[in-house]
Amino acid sequence: MIHAAELIQRKRDGGELSADELRELVLGYASGAVPDYQMAAFCMAVMFRGLTSAETFAMTEAFIGSGTRIEMGKLLGRRVVDKHSTGGVGDKTSIAVAPIVAACGVPFGKMSGRGLGHTGGTLDKLESIPGFRVELSLDEFVAQVRETGVAIIGQTADLVPADKKLYALRDVTATVDSVALIAASIMSKKIAAGADAIVLDVKVGDGAFMKTLEDARILAEAMLSLGERAGRKVVCLLTDMDQPLGHAVGNALELHEAIATIRGDGPPDFTELVLAACARLLALSDLGVDEGEGRRRAEQAVQDGSALAAYERWIRAQGGDPNEDALPAAPVVAQVEAPRGGYVRALGAIRVGYAALRLGAGRRTKEDAIDHAVGVVCRRKRGDEVAAGELLAEVHARDETSAADGVREVLAAYELGDEPPARRALVLDVLD
Ligand code: URA
Repeated sequence: MIHAAELIQRKRDGGELSADELRELVLGYASGAVPDYQMAAFCMAVMFRGLTSAETFAMTEAFIGSGTRIEMGKLLGRRVVDKHSTGGVGDKTSIAVAPIVAACGVPFGKMSGRGLGHTGGTLDKLESIPGFRVELSLDEFVAQVRETGVAIIGQTADLVPADKKLYALRDVTATVDSVALIAASIMSKKIAAGADAIVLDVKVGDGAFMKTLEDARILAEAMLSLGERAGRKVVCLLTDMDQPLGHAVGNALELHEAIATIRGDGPPDFTELVLAACARLLALSDLGVDEGEGRRRAEQAVQDGSALAAYERWIRAQGGDPNEDALPAAPVVAQVEAPRGGYVRALGAIRVGYAALRLGAGRRTKEDAIDHAVGVVCRRKRGDEVAAGELLAEVHARDETSAADGVREVLAAYELGDEPPARRALVLDVLD
């Protein structure tokens, strides 16, 4: 019989839990024996006390043990690759990376999550595509990676169900940004879904869960160590999330931007990250190429249209309509204009993320439905020069009232000044 209150109390007071205790707690939560309120209290205790590396490993194993695990590489006889982000604003990278890598002949299989807090989730973005199914069975998942070369699915009842349930709870109980909980959540999905080589994009800055490079390194190292213990090849990119990635924030709007990037017309920062991730994934794959050659092949796949063809094949394989016109559009588009001339000195990612969430692009409670059409398009980014009255951003809204609120919030995210800001690299560090 599990005594959840006793375990919560021990963690609250800074004690350590054994692997058996953590497994019981996690499996108890997955089965319903441990209620939401106790698990929320436990996560809050972890927020303040953290987990040791042994506890983080035990938590990861417990998540994996709540469902089935696939040995994708063995089933396909190929090295399957995967990419995952710790969460950011405007981060649609996986949606562009997956078909580019597949077009280069490398199988890509990923289990993804939904939006968390102010950050968007790949599954929510993909569900803006009419008909797209994220809930494939494991057999369908493996068959699709084998036949189409690419699949991105949600956590099914079979794969890491404990993380699926806990992820939704953390989202609405302010218990997301713990290194140990993020590391266990991400790596359990990566290990259970069976990819052999993984590129992790650890976001750093205002719009990320890790606000400093130092914290991001701690998270990256925790995930590298979990990957190593599971025998996976892992590379971590530490990338800037002080401003939104690309221009678009919001589900269908981000899909348009991902498709433009796959076609070679994406925003420069987003394109750079996509190509950097593809280059690393191809270098980790069984193609036997280095990073430089990986980048060349990824660029080639974009230029010759094979990446776009792979995207269309992938979306059709999961029941979706790859035609961009099929994506939903918001009825109201309002403009955010520059109140003065000068340079964009900062564009607060978290403020833009919350503005998009309040427009309906994210969830405030577990039960909230998402409005796939709404969001923000940041036409001007850090370092851009603007004249007074020029367009800074667009707010795509369901009605005039939410559009007006959105305009106010997005304007508050912009800091304008006379001098251009110092340049900040997008890829801040690479750990492997
Ligand atoms: N992404 C995940 O999959 N899990 C987290 O906890 C945070 C980001």
